[in-house]
Amino acid sequence: MQIKTASRLGLLPPYLFAELDRLKKEIQKKGVDVISLGIGDPDLPTPAHIVEALKRAADDPANYRYPDYQGLDRFRSAATDWYRRRFDVKLDPAREACAVIGSKEGIANFATAVVDPGDIVLIPDPGYPVYFSGCVFNGGEAYFMPLRKENGFLPDLEAIPAEVARRARLMWLNYPNNPTAATAETGFLADAVRFCLKNNIVLAHDLAYSEIAYDGYRAPSVFEVPEARECAIEFHSLSKTYSMTGWRIGFAVGNETLVGALGRVKTNMDSGPFQAVQEAAIAALEGPEDSVREYCAIYKQRRDLMVDALQELGLSCERPRATFYVWAAVPKGYSSASLTERVLKEAGVVITPGSGFGKGGEGYVRFSLTVSSERLKEAVQRLKALRL
Ligand code: MLT
Repeated sequence: MQIKTASRLGLLPPYLFAELDRLKKEIQKKGVDVISLGIGDPDLPTPAHIVEALKRAADDPANYRYPDYQGLDRFRSAATDWYRRRFDVKLDPAREACAVIGSKEGIANFATAVVDPGDIVLIPDPGYPVYFSGCVFNGGEAYFMPLRKENGFLPDLEAIPAEVARRARLMWLNYPNNPTAATAETGFLADAVRFCLKNNIVLAHDLAYSEIAYDGYRAPSVFEVPEARECAIEFHSLSKTYSMTGWRIGFAVGNETLVGALGRVKTNMDSGPFQAVQEAAIAALEGPEDSVREYCAIYKQRRDLMVDALQELGLSCERPRATFYVWAAVPKGYSSASLTERVLKEAGVVITPGSGFGKGGEGYVRFSLTVSSERLKEAVQRLKALRL
């Protein structure tokens, strides 16, 4: 039999990080000691009090059954209490919060909740690939909003044509930003809320990197803009804040109708995060924040090491105030892909080509700071030897 897979699969390239993983394994098979600065997957351990909470919860048979679809009431309350403490934003845990199996799942499924075939989805370019996947899988039409250096890697909302705005159903934003590491102030988020309200567009803000910040910077929530409650949803992940990428736990908060619509998709698609993981996530959200501060201090050291080294090597880059990424312009004579390929093949270092995040990322590469300083120093030595 000739198996025919759905044509929608042909509309997407292989998932960026799955592809990088494949290339990494290929090189490792040749015996190369590969240093991976590709995916943003924290090497620092999940704090012990969170692991302990999981162990206790794993012993409780009450957690072996199907979890609540929207998440445990206590998990949703822990999430909204955290929002109140962190952003001074009050949310109703029963109506305005929903657990997700990592924000990637929530982001992908949210498109199913709001995008009809033919609707335009406004997507930052470069941007996290899942915004586009959700759009394509639901028959949406992507309109890419370029993030340019001269605009601080913020989209120019005024440049979106009126006809595009009229047909748009959903806009994605993500600050602190992946991959550019740019940050946005509340004023920009307020402009985006005004734009979306004026044009009847749902605003979805991906806030996965809010806690990985330096030099006194505090990333805002879109809900610090009071009118956001009328049109917005925000996705938060425990992955980066508490080094919990493998645990698959996050939450979405915001407009009751939007959170409810996401919940409705999810009741049909999955059965929620393992309850013991939710118990551990409650311990994370309610527990001491010392590890977050300690980990940010470590990332800051790595950031300074990497930025100084890249600038010395002639790769132009900013010193980011948030995220654990460094977004660097490729030297003359290279494209994003050709630099990535050379660095992998000749130095055994995995970096992410900017073009993997969309056309707007061409001319850049992303370095993830999720390996030890020793490994970063080794990576820098190998890059130096390439004489880029
Ligand atoms: C990244 O490296 O861009 C992210 O870690 C990927 C992800 O969160 O899925």
